[in-house]
Amino acid sequence: MTLTHQLGITYPILCGAMYPCSNPELVAAVSRCGGLGIVQPLSLVYVHGYEFRAGLHYIRSLTANPIGMNVIVEKNSRLYESRMRGWVDIALDEGVRFFVTALGKPDWVVEKAHAKGALVFHDVTHRQWALRALECGVDGFICVNNRAGGHAGTLSMRELYESLCTLGKPLIAAGGISTRTDVMEALALGYAAVQLGTRFVASIECTAPPEYKQAIVEAGEGDIVTTERVTGVPLSVIRTPYVAKVGTTVGPLSRFLFRYRRTRHLLRFLYNVRSVMAFKRSMHSGMSTKDYYQAGKSVSGIDRILSVEDIFSQLTSEPPSSLAG
Ligand SMILES: Cc1cc2nc3c(=O)[nH]c(=O)nc-3n(C[C@H](O)[C@H](O)[C@H](O)COP(=O)(O)O)c2cc1C
Repeated sequence: MTLTHQLGITYPILCGAMYPCSNPELVAAVSRCGGLGIVQPLSLVYVHGYEFRAGLHYIRSLTANPIGMNVIVEKNSRLYESRMRGWVDIALDEGVRFFVTALGKPDWVVEKAHAKGALVFHDVTHRQWALRALECGVDGFICVNNRAGGHAGTLSMRELYESLCTLGKPLIAAGGISTRTDVMEALALGYAAVQLGTRFVASIECTAPPEYKQAIVEAGEGDIVTTERVTGVPLSVIRTPYVAKVGTTVGPLSRFLFRYRRTRHLLRFLYNVRSVMAFKRSMHSGMSTKDYYQAGKSVSGIDRILSVEDIFSQLTSEPPSSLAG
């Protein structure tokens, strides 16, 4: 059975979870068009202001098609973990049958998901992480390459495929995909599906500020750099004049605090609070010159802000039979 059949979708195209850009209308639009929208729970609750179950109901009111959910399983605080476990239970209760786990050990997600017949795919950048996740029983991998938005990997799409294809699990390519040619290239390599992020930020349905979407349209591949200054670990952003001015590395104090587990979590929490506050402010009053524009190298294939439907037409047109699963 193909992955599209397993997931109940028409096209092997996922809109990856994006904190803070995964607004419910975007998730729903992707699923409505025959792809799979992935809910980012922290984004749904803390950025877009929905109580978790009510947010899922809202998405459900926009489409009856399948959706997925992102679970960042990194050990954080006890409160974070119990909240995330509760959200996974609610998602399963509400019929979500696909989970994308990231960081940490996804064993508890697998246990809960498999009990309800759901699938768990783990985000990986290297074989060593894939082997660890495999021990937890995951069903497949989201292979995050060196062109991805968010926290990019270091290997190319091909290198990652070659290092993981012997594991006998379906692989989904993430990073650098924004055109039909990119999609076909990933499928031709052997990937079962593709996951896009940046392309969907520059969509009408995404509620990110217009300046952010326009910056994606105007940026070229060479404008993408990684900076530690947003989350403490390298994150792909557009090199704006502000990024060029302040640099892309953290200062000695942050570097010191990042060495220890407890202070690392506290610092990440503070970085996250800061980035959510900046994003919320920008949604209401526009972006400031000091804001970061997260994007991957797929900006090279994005020349217009389009509706999700038009993005799907571009990605899947001619000949449709070669993509529809
Ligand atoms: C703004 C932004 C936020 C992201 N946030 C998350 C996240 O919260 N969880 C996650 O697993 N991946 C996250 N990602 C990664 C995406 O889900 C996806 O794998 C990636 O964007 C694919 O690369 P592309 O942007 O070149 O299409 C994020 C990506 C972007 C661009």
